[in-house]
Amino acid sequence: MTSDRIETIFSAETIATRVTELAGEIAAAGIEKPLIIAILKGSFVFAADLIRALHRAGLAPEVEFLTLSSYRKGQVSSGQVAIVRDVEGDVRDRNVLIIDDILESGRTLAYAKDLLVARGAASVRTCVLLDKPIRRAVDVRADYKAFDCPNVFVVGYGMDAGHRFRELPFVGKLVAGS
Ligand code: IMP
Ligand code: MG
Repeated sequence: MTSDRIETIFSAETIATRVTELAGEIAAAGIEKPLIIAILKGSFVFAADLIRALHRAGLAPEVEFLTLSSYRKGQVSSGQVAIVRDVEGDVRDRNVLIIDDILESGRTLAYAKDLLVARGAASVRTCVLLDKPIRRAVDVRADYKAFDCPNVFVVGYGMDAGHRFRELPFVGKLVAGS
């Protein structure tokens, strides 16, 4: 355990530059009274940086949180998504922007999107930090994404492996030690 290594894939500087660009793309879409829904836990660091970048880009989004679990066995998703903690406010007639950390099988994002559409949101857009298109099991794509991600298990910048590494300021590949 103690000999685990993390190889940097996206540095803090690279992420910061891209988050600013992404906020510009989102601002350019002219979304009226955006309501951001950050999917916890993994997206909390990305969401925190992105909403401040959106502020610098001239937006004043409201922010809510939705905690979903995707019942992963180790590093593989099982396909079952459930609500652990719901949003507090009403999403009816709101222009929602979902923020998540990684789009992998697509089940989490598809679940969140369907849920908010079913609750009467006026529009639902999606924004992810990382996209692993090769792992897709459900036909869903993100409207905004920061980076394409290689098909490896990543940690840091909010993302964990067994509750560890969320605090790292960069995204890295976990290289398990012996
Ligand atoms: P999906 O439902 O398969 O698209 O999985 C998405 C969720 O699984 C993400 O929101 C992450 O929380 C988690 N996840 C997927 N790949 C990784 C990874 O490489 N590292 C950490 N978490 C991951
Ligand atoms: Mg997640």
